[in-house]
Amino acid sequence: MSAPETQILPLSDAAIGEAAALILAGQPVAVPTETVYGLAADATDDSAVARIYAAKGRPSFNPLIVHVADMVMARTIATFSPLADRLVAAFWPGPLTLVLPLAPGSSVAGLVTAGLPTVAIRMPAHPAMRALIAASGVPLAAPSANASGSISPTSAAHVLRSLDGRIPFNLDDGPTSAGLESTIVAVEENELTLLRPGPLGIDMLASVGGVPITARGEGDAITAPGQLASHYAPGKPVLLDRQTPADGAFHIGFGLGASDYNLSESGDLVEAAARLFAALHEADISDRTCISVAPIPHEGIGIAINDRLARAAV
Ligand code: TXA
Ligand code: MG
Repeated sequence: MSAPETQILPLSDAAIGEAAALILAGQPVAVPTETVYGLAADATDDSAVARIYAAKGRPSFNPLIVHVADMVMARTIATFSPLADRLVAAFWPGPLTLVLPLAPGSSVAGLVTAGLPTVAIRMPAHPAMRALIAASGVPLAAPSANASGSISPTSAAHVLRSLDGRIPFNLDDGPTSAGLESTIVAVEENELTLLRPGPLGIDMLASVGGVPITARGEGDAITAPGQLASHYAPGKPVLLDRQTPADGAFHIGFGLGASDYNLSESGDLVEAAARLFAALHEADISDRTCISVAPIPHEGIGIAINDRLARAAV
């Protein structure tokens, strides 16, 4: 795709109108969600979806998440079991992606599901993404708006770092609130499988679902590329669980103690999640040769933070 200049506009009705027109013309548009910025395109149009892969430089076997604005749209795409409906009632709109069987006659492009009989679907809470889906009238396929393999974007500036000139339009509504990609769970008959930890913790899923929840084991087949080892890697070594800065490192702190970027001085894990990718971006563009990171507690959303850090460190 040739897009010599990326136009960037703050969220407004006019900006949504312009973004929707681009979507309906088959172009990908960067748009904030409550988790990370997404690179959105018409999920029913194979060539529009192909332009997402082209802009990201992403291997085309990776399936994408489909974003919907309401349950009428959702049910044309996926088949919701009673278990899925319970999760929807409790957690949508929000940072939860469900992997469900494709609905019969689903209009989702084959490129979105990479030919799988299932589809990953979520209803985002962010007003910009919701307005864009409503204005364009189609479900939107949207991976994170970054070049494949680079750090996920939690601001419009992050998007431009790897996609400037590769996409026509970037809608700017400031930093995202959750800061980590959605929790992904595969819904089967009477079982949930956690495919990617995220802002919504498994204890919440288990208590609403009322069924066993299995985390995908290390040796299992990769079903979500967020599970690929180096998916979130910055371009330099990352040393984890450092109480003090490593020699010559850009130190990402948590709680008390010296650091170049503190995820949360008060030790708040939710704040740390929201700031994690911004910290990695800063560390990546700094002149230091490596990155060290303070220990982060393995509890609540700290599990998802440690998951992303482990991938960044590979
Ligand atoms: O928060 C998010 O989820 C962001 C925002 C933009 O919504 N999106 C995002 O998309 O992280 P992406 O493409 O980076 O991650 C999609 C994940 C991948 O790990 C993919 O393998 C998995 O969803 N996935 C998609 N379809 C699947 C399927 N049918 N079965 C299993 N995993 C699937
Ligand atoms: Mg991504």
